[in-house]
Amino acid sequence: MCPDDGVRPRPERNEAAGAEELRRELGACDKRLLLSRSVGAETLSQDQDLRSAKGDGHEPGEPGKMSRFLWGIDWSEWLPRGFTDDGIELHLSDIESALPFISAHYGEIFEQDLERGRFYSEPFDGAKLRYYGMADVFEIKHAERTIGVFIGTPSDWSTYYLRSMGLLPAYQGRKLPGVILPFLFDRLAGGGVRRFEADTSPSNLATVRRLTHLGFNVTGTVLSERWGALLRLTKFVDEGAEDVFLDKFCSGIRYQRRHRGNQHITQ
Ligand SMILES: CC(C)(COP(=O)(O)OP(=O)(O)OC[C@H]1O[C@@H](n2cnc3c(N)ncnc32)[C@H](O)[C@@H]1OP(=O)(O)O)[C@@H](O)C(=O)NCCC(=O)NCCS
Repeated sequence: MCPDDGVRPRPERNEAAGAEELRRELGACDKRLLLSRSVGAETLSQDQDLRSAKGDGHEPGEPGKMSRFLWGIDWSEWLPRGFTDDGIELHLSDIESALPFISAHYGEIFEQDLERGRFYSEPFDGAKLRYYGMADVFEIKHAERTIGVFIGTPSDWSTYYLRSMGLLPAYQGRKLPGVILPFLFDRLAGGGVRRFEADTSPSNLATVRRLTHLGFNVTGTVLSERWGALLRLTKFVDEGAEDVFLDKFCSGIRYQRRHRGNQHITQ
């Protein structure tokens, strides 16, 4: 999960102003393209390479989901699904449906004004939109209102990347990722995913704590022109793979092994 997840919206004053600010921020992409539901079809229909990456079950002209193409995952079999007694649900979505929430709230959620101008920003052009069109996009809803977004993408044939997760501040600290992510991880592991990866700022203690609680290891550091300094975290599905990491690269205590007996891989 990158600090601003590559979308880089601005905080909005109201919905119309937010959309306009997003359009300006994303520059190269026309507002009609950003907000029109048909954009994926329009852009993808001209792209032979992406057409070949389509999976089954999507509408003609729409991009296929990478997770379906690689691992046969059809999220609509399991979603929507409730996760709390007070009715918080996970819904399958797509980038165009999630963009209004991202535009309206990511600036606040990611405290993005603090980062403005520090890093290299790319336009939300056709390639980025097509990429997100093939990603798994989920909306977290409470009483039919979107309160958060999660976006994940395969980064190779056996690796799933947690690209973005953001919850409205009022819903943070309720351990929602602690129930939602394991649900997603179980199904992805069942399809063939062998590791989950995420990047986060060293200062993002909520993310570091949440992910390490879920069994992620800190496996690296990255200096990115787009997002600054990042910790790379990896959750191994296979204990044998985690053993290689622990035994070859880690000295001292291996807490991961202490908890294997009493935790499922995705708890
Ligand atoms: C990252 C995020 C999705 C995690 O969701 P969450 O609901 O906060 O997750 P949890 O409730 O499991 O909390 C994770 C840990 O951070 C702590 N935490 C959460 N919110 C906090 C806050 N506002 N202040 C201090 N600690 C906080 C929790 O106490 C918990 O630690 P613990 O289990 O040891 O007590 C959410 O905090 C968020 O949207 N943050 C802003 C966007 C972001 O950073 N996204 C990830 C980008 S890499």
